[in-house]
Amino acid sequence: MRTFPPVLTKAIAEFERRYGQPPTHYAVAPGRVNLIGEHTDYQGGFVFPAAIDKYVAVAARVAPEMSVVSSSVEPEPAVFFASNPKKDGIPAWSRYVSGMAWAMGPGRVDIQGHVESDLPVGAGLSSSAAMEMAFGCLWREMEGLLISNPALALAGQRAENEFVGVQCGIMDQTASLFGVADHALLIDTENPSAPTPIPLPEDVALVVCDTRVKHSLGSSAYNERRAEAESAARKLMVPSLRRATLLQVESSQAMNEKEQMRARHIVTENSRVESFVQALKAKDRDAVRHWMRASHQSLRTQFEVSCFELDAMVDAAEHSVGCWGVRMTGGGFGGSCIALVDRDKISGFVKQTEAAYFSATARYPLFHSVSAADGAYAAAL
Ligand code: GLA
Repeated sequence: MRTFPPVLTKAIAEFERRYGQPPTHYAVAPGRVNLIGEHTDYQGGFVFPAAIDKYVAVAARVAPEMSVVSSSVEPEPAVFFASNPKKDGIPAWSRYVSGMAWAMGPGRVDIQGHVESDLPVGAGLSSSAAMEMAFGCLWREMEGLLISNPALALAGQRAENEFVGVQCGIMDQTASLFGVADHALLIDTENPSAPTPIPLPEDVALVVCDTRVKHSLGSSAYNERRAEAESAARKLMVPSLRRATLLQVESSQAMNEKEQMRARHIVTENSRVESFVQALKAKDRDAVRHWMRASHQSLRTQFEVSCFELDAMVDAAEHSVGCWGVRMTGGGFGGSCIALVDRDKISGFVKQTEAAYFSATARYPLFHSVSAADGAYAAAL
């Protein structure tokens, strides 16, 4: 028997209150943090995320004519025809919902639904992938569709690429679906259907350090980075940068400077993932710190997706009590850092990091101590 996360209980009760009858189905999908392996997932690389115990939950039933999905965190409901959803002229958040209906193929049933979430939006914790996977699991369950988890993850990526317009990779959807409690997932994005769960050390907590900034250039800069990486792969004549060596990257005359920097990040980040996983397994604190720092530096100087606030958070957290290692997590341009922290030192860590971050940025950060959680699921009530 699963225990319902509080947001799911709330979604079910709120559905009944708003629509005057009980829901027939529910789905819940977790967000994720990525421990290392950043901006590699659209170039066949390695990533190492964990699903976290912060969720998007939806309660629903079949609706006769059109879909109406309300959310307690969004003022406007999503209203669409599930069999033929449009992407224009609708509130931004509802594209993740109707985009999923579109990406799962024609003929989805219309639903009445209500969403609750304790996953902060814009914090780099993949609330969008969680939304997609919650609705993907919901439709699969309600209609008894034979869609495997890898296919559902791909549908989520397609919804985001083509309906929302962000050229994201496959990491977030895969983490949200395949999450395993107390484990992070080593994912080879050349074969994302077989993640390897790696147990997290018991005495180490995952602390999300939210900078509370989200720079608006985010999604266009993301797409630009992806295009540069693709162009670098073409010029190196490899199917993806996963298949390039550092020697090739350093000696190539074909790439421009930016392409070379992007390729250098991806190639070195891939090897850092493996080293980091070994360090974590061995509980080698110094090595964990080293690889997280190296990853952040490479994202800052070579991939250029960090920002003043993320750098300030890394500096603040790295020098705080109990910190094993820290780096930015997710796409960048604001959002959060992930720190591995001694479980018995969390409150001291938070106090010191908050003070140091505030003195550098004049902003109050937010902290979430999260646990690695199981992946998305749906069921009839
Ligand atoms: C976002 C995208 C992912 C991945 C990360 C960076 O979270 O959705 O696919 O590319 O950025 O690692």
